[in-house]
Amino acid sequence: MSNVFSDAPGALDAELAELINRLPKVELHVHLEGTLEPELAYRLAGRNGLALPFGSVEEIRAAYEFSDLQSFLDVYYAACSVLVTREDFRDLTLAYLARAHADGVRHVEPFFDPQTHTTRGIPIADVIDGILDGLAEGEHLYGITSGLILSFLRHLPVDSANATLAAAEPWLDRIVAVGLDSSEIGFPPEPFAGTFARARSLGLRAVAHAGEEGDASLVPRTIDALGVSRIDHGVRAADDPAVMQRLVDSGITLTACPISNVRLRVFPTMDRSTIRTLLAAGVAVTINSDDPAYFGGYIGDNYRAITAALGLTADDLHRLAANAIEGSFAAPERKQELTNELARAVCR
Ligand code: ADE
Ligand code: ZN
Repeated sequence: MSNVFSDAPGALDAELAELINRLPKVELHVHLEGTLEPELAYRLAGRNGLALPFGSVEEIRAAYEFSDLQSFLDVYYAACSVLVTREDFRDLTLAYLARAHADGVRHVEPFFDPQTHTTRGIPIADVIDGILDGLAEGEHLYGITSGLILSFLRHLPVDSANATLAAAEPWLDRIVAVGLDSSEIGFPPEPFAGTFARARSLGLRAVAHAGEEGDASLVPRTIDALGVSRIDHGVRAADDPAVMQRLVDSGITLTACPISNVRLRVFPTMDRSTIRTLLAAGVAVTINSDDPAYFGGYIGDNYRAITAALGLTADDLHRLAANAIEGSFAAPERKQELTNELARAVCR
């Protein structure tokens, strides 16, 4: 596997590395299914009496070489077959939170894709209750607060998204937002306008993936069609100054995932990332991990890799961490706590 850090022009400055360790982090773009490490996949397969099509954990990791988004999604959906019981979803969530805690994550708004599981006959109750069990235990153990995001698969019909939203109604008081993910090319946002309008009328916030493989025009189209308050990825917005200005004027946050973008060949190397252009334009961009078990880097690795590759400064890091707090759906008091903690972390 190529080393995603090898395209960094220089080693990371020790003081910046220390600052990154200290930053209280808010993660706004992580798919719980994308945190399934091979070791846990093996454990769950054994527990559920399922066979995996690989001989070893090393073989699985060696297979994680992707040519584009779809080549990754094919592997990612297949691996989800080991997630069967409520306890599996709880274990998956708790394993991610333990890792996030080690990286200084204080608040997380993770995605889950119910349709990946309900289409295999898993009851939505087991999926959601298992994840909520894990989030509650993680808050107790690590103090990590959270807001869960129910994400629709855009390659499935709109009727399936509508049915998923209806099936999730008993849990909507414990879900903060709806999202839209999966294959961007060929699956535009507009057909999901009614689903998102219904979700927003039920009091949910809205986010959606756009401008990852798709071009900059998908970003304003997604904002207009779905009424989102964040765009997931959105890094192609940097190709069009008018789109960046729209993001600045509307205060919409971008949840960028630097290592994911290199692994899925959105950018050929990390130093071609558009994050510096977005920061310079005043876009509220943030740093996140997307599917860390598949891309070989959690949120701290993403901060380190992009800082080294682009030569980001302490001020840039402060801005990125503050953007994540401000762009989160946390309660105002929680945002204030995190802002105070961030001020202490950068003033040492
Ligand atoms: N689902 C999981 N990761 C994704 C990504 N990077 N883009 C779209 N859908 C996804
Ligand atoms: Zn994603």
